[in-house]
Amino acid sequence: MKYAIVYSSITGNTKKLAETIKNKIHECYYGKPSDEALSADTIFLGFWTGKNSCSAEVQSFIEKLSDKKLFIFGTAGYNNTKEYFEEILSNVKAHVPSSNTIIGTYMCQGKVSDAKQDAIKKDNPEMYEAIKDKLEEAVQHPNDDDINALVSEIDKLNL
Ligand SMILES: Cc1cc2nc3c(=O)[nH]c(=O)nc-3n(C[C@H](O)[C@H](O)[C@H](O)COP(=O)(O)O)c2cc1C
Repeated sequence: MKYAIVYSSITGNTKKLAETIKNKIHECYYGKPSDEALSADTIFLGFWTGKNSCSAEVQSFIEKLSDKKLFIFGTAGYNNTKEYFEEILSNVKAHVPSSNTIIGTYMCQGKVSDAKQDAIKKDNPEMYEAIKDKLEEAVQHPNDDDINALVSEIDKLNL
């Protein structure tokens, strides 16, 4: 198997990106992090952001990778600047063993569940105030522009 699209998505935002990639690559492993995906040469790895990085599930999958070509994609809710996405990506990349090659990355904003928004409001009202406009903006994402931008990053790979 040449390709795998491996992703973790709780509320469907990252899944939307994974589906977009799936539409471009027909023959591949498609699903959750699993050892089956490890036979692919090129892995598209999708994560949702928690604590400015990927989840433990994605992290432990990343740590198993060797000699892969890796395209890392993800969604985050609390901001949508290039700098913010770069910071998260560098936290995720820090888990990638050095034998792997990162062939591309893509991130966009993704809506934050009501439950998580309520939890932020309750546990950290100052943070909620600081990011509430961003959370409102996140409701629109991933949108068509985000999907088109992902497609153009995938097209650059000349698969
Ligand atoms: C437990 C939890 C922690 C989160 N932590 C962050 C975070 O640190 N930074 C951020 O930008 N978004 C954070 N988010 C928002 C999600 O990363 C964002 O909504 C993402 O698009 C969800 O992707 P999914 O729909 O594929 O699960 C968090 C969401 C949850 C539920």
